[in-house]
Amino acid sequence: MKYSIKQDNAKPDSDCTVVAVYSKGALSREAKKLDAATGKALSKVIKSGDFAGKLGDALLLHAPLGAKSHRVLLAGAGDSKKFDGKACVKMLQGALKILLKSKAGSACFDLASLAVSDRDFKWLAERVALEAERAAYRYDATKSKKKKPYALKSVSLTYLSRADINAARKKGEPIGKEPTTPAQVSAALKQGEAVGKAVNRARELGNLPGNICTPTYLAAQARKLAERYKSLSVKVLGEAQMRRLGMGSLLSVAAGSAQEAKLIVLQYRGGAKSDKPYALVGKGITFDTGGISLKAGLAMDEMKFDMCGAASVIATLYGVAELRLPVNVVGVVAAAENMPGSKATKPGDIVTSMAGKTIEILNTDAEGRLVLCDALTYTEREFKPRTVIDIATLTGAAVATFGKHVNALMSNDRQLADTLLEKGQHCLDPAWELPLWDEYQSQLDSNFADFANIGSRYAGTITAACFLSRFTEKLKWAHLDIAGSAWHSGTEKAATGRPVGLLLEYLRTRKK
Ligand code: BES
Ligand code: MN
Ligand code: ZN
Repeated sequence: MKYSIKQDNAKPDSDCTVVAVYSKGALSREAKKLDAATGKALSKVIKSGDFAGKLGDALLLHAPLGAKSHRVLLAGAGDSKKFDGKACVKMLQGALKILLKSKAGSACFDLASLAVSDRDFKWLAERVALEAERAAYRYDATKSKKKKPYALKSVSLTYLSRADINAARKKGEPIGKEPTTPAQVSAALKQGEAVGKAVNRARELGNLPGNICTPTYLAAQARKLAERYKSLSVKVLGEAQMRRLGMGSLLSVAAGSAQEAKLIVLQYRGGAKSDKPYALVGKGITFDTGGISLKAGLAMDEMKFDMCGAASVIATLYGVAELRLPVNVVGVVAAAENMPGSKATKPGDIVTSMAGKTIEILNTDAEGRLVLCDALTYTEREFKPRTVIDIATLTGAAVATFGKHVNALMSNDRQLADTLLEKGQHCLDPAWELPLWDEYQSQLDSNFADFANIGSRYAGTITAACFLSRFTEKLKWAHLDIAGSAWHSGTEKAATGRPVGLLLEYLRTRKK
């Protein structure tokens, strides 16, 4: 998609003009102008009762707007007093769904004076591009018939000049918060596009089946990225190298599989050489059968999504490279397939992690923490990172607790946790915190090893984090359990690309 800005839509020249309409058919400032230019075409529709501006609704009209433009898309914005960031996204998504169904090749989002209560215009511009990218994503990699490309090829956004803003203020018209320069609006569109593309990259990796998206495939994707971006470099460790490093925990997960485990390291250099990096560590179980502690059959196909943490790390590194962030970032992916087999790890087996701690594997289905602990130790020793965030589809308990709307957050650092909570709210990829208290640690006690890999039946998300916390004592560390947020089930079954939005929002706001 191509993005551009327009000072106003006085001479409509795109195939479709998108304007906001609030509840009860109240026209936004731009919609009013359009109404006047079309002989009250909009007012007539509102009067007819066919469209009332309900949040997320959208109605496509054919109304002549000069030589080139002949479509108007009414985007339902709901209650104008409740028009916040969340509502704005809902409006954009509703509009884009209808817009992409049409044959319009270009669209002008005429939203220049839209007042989003808790956001500024830069945020809106970013979001227009982000949501457009997101809406235009379709999975067809493994369909024999490829889908026809969408007609929509370009999106423009109108903005107000300083003079427009002053004039509107004088008249007491409600408009967005601050004057934004054309350069800022352009930059915001670019950034939103980069974030949207990164989200889509994570979705694509997540959606690919386990027989294609193997640890080796993930490594190849990381290599491709490093070839494409000068700022990225890649290193892939195979099982022999991991054995030499003593990663007995990670390797125990891959023992039953014909697929070789990989530790994938993607490094982005945007800061000074001496700047310590921000680290992301992703769980990359390309299929989780449970191993010898075999899972039940129902919906087991969804365990192809058990590498969504890894996908979010790779996609975020891509986003970071696109955005050319002025910091150093390292992504570490622990990729393996969890299978039963004659060489598979058995319940009761004891392994030694890279950190030297011994682990009694009481359940081979609690494999995510086993690959992550060695990846975390590696990250700490190799990079001395400023902060570490691990991202993992770690526990069914996180789904039971939060459903699909929330990234479960646990951390040993108050400031890091607060930052992630705030950034999640801002970019609408929210996290919510669970207590990582010492009281839970004793659930991991073992009679035969330093500790076990599972706790009791209760507080599964927290005990999983407790396990990881034993490998991150020297780090400023946060853990995101994305078991609920990373994909949707049922007829909407698909990876969501979360929490790429949150990770990029966090990294974009780091200081040099
Ligand atoms: N990948 C799963 C977690 C999962 C399960 C995510 C269902 C989304 C939906 C993880 O490896 C796992 O199997 N966890 C076990 C841990 C248990 C054995 C302590 C779980 O949550 O049941
Ligand atoms: Mn498992
Ligand atoms: Zn798993």
